[in-house]
Amino acid sequence: MSSRGEEQPVSGPLVVIPTYDERENLPGIVARVRAAVPSASVLVVDDDSPDGTGELADELAAADASVHVLHRRGKEGLGAAYLAAFDWALERGFDPMVQLDADGSHLPEQLPALLDALETTDAAGRPADVVIGSRWVPGGSVVNWPRRRVWLSKTGSTYSRWMLRVPVNDVTAGYRVYRAGALRALRLDDVHTKGYGFQVDMTWHAVTAGLRVVEVPVTFVERELGRSKMSAAIVFEAMGRVTAWGIARRLRRTRQATAGASADRRPSRA
Ligand code: GDD
Ligand code: MN
Repeated sequence: MSSRGEEQPVSGPLVVIPTYDERENLPGIVARVRAAVPSASVLVVDDDSPDGTGELADELAAADASVHVLHRRGKEGLGAAYLAAFDWALERGFDPMVQLDADGSHLPEQLPALLDALETTDAAGRPADVVIGSRWVPGGSVVNWPRRRVWLSKTGSTYSRWMLRVPVNDVTAGYRVYRAGALRALRLDDVHTKGYGFQVDMTWHAVTAGLRVVEVPVTFVERELGRSKMSAAIVFEAMGRVTAWGIARRLRRTRQATAGASADRRPSRA
């Protein structure tokens, strides 16, 4: 793994863009991010794309000091790429961290709204820790997605919400903002999901850690160039993990309830 970019101290939002074969999409998306939020830096996390996306990212970084590149040795999945990126970013002091797909599905023009939502407070005056750009809340939408992807996404979200009892409508959403402090609080060492189930894993960890998660409606636009890296293996990994976490959660609660009941039965010493 290696990285490039200037070494002086940094601050402000970091937009992490994971890439695998995104040559046609990368220059356009980086330019749109920089235009939409001029204070944002960009980190491209490339898994040694065969189409040369990594070298192209190096060229973009050489031309713009706010663009950085993390080169990884091979395709290890979206989750692994994001975890490496978060380590990189936390070490350097960026705050907050944004997740954004390279293919144009997440509109950089909607990023200011996501960043604003981080500052909105609840009744107790608490700002948000995590903002999710959600397709499945009023005002959110999907453009040009095949019907089976809409079905898969909605079903996956509903199943995860029910299994894990997380109060989030778009559990697998990839367009997100995390405060640096939230990433530190949610125990990244314990997040192991390699594929897109990573998004569910992070949501589950955030909710379990008591973080405040807010959803903001976004328009998800299906890519025009290149191909999705979604696969059956990615779906099975996510489904299998959500099922296992859900069962473990129920067992834990049953055990707690039983322990509570036997404690109640203990004779009092008074
Ligand atoms: N570095 C790296 N390594 N990047 C990857 C890998 C990987 O193994 N797999 C995918 N990516 C990058 C792609 O290049 C793209 O920039 C982004 O991750 C999303 O990949 P897509 O393949 O375009 O995903 P999608 O459009 O099918 O899925 C979207 O929806 C999912 C379900 O809601 C994404 O937003 C997912 O994050 C989301 O879970
Ligand atoms: Mn995509």
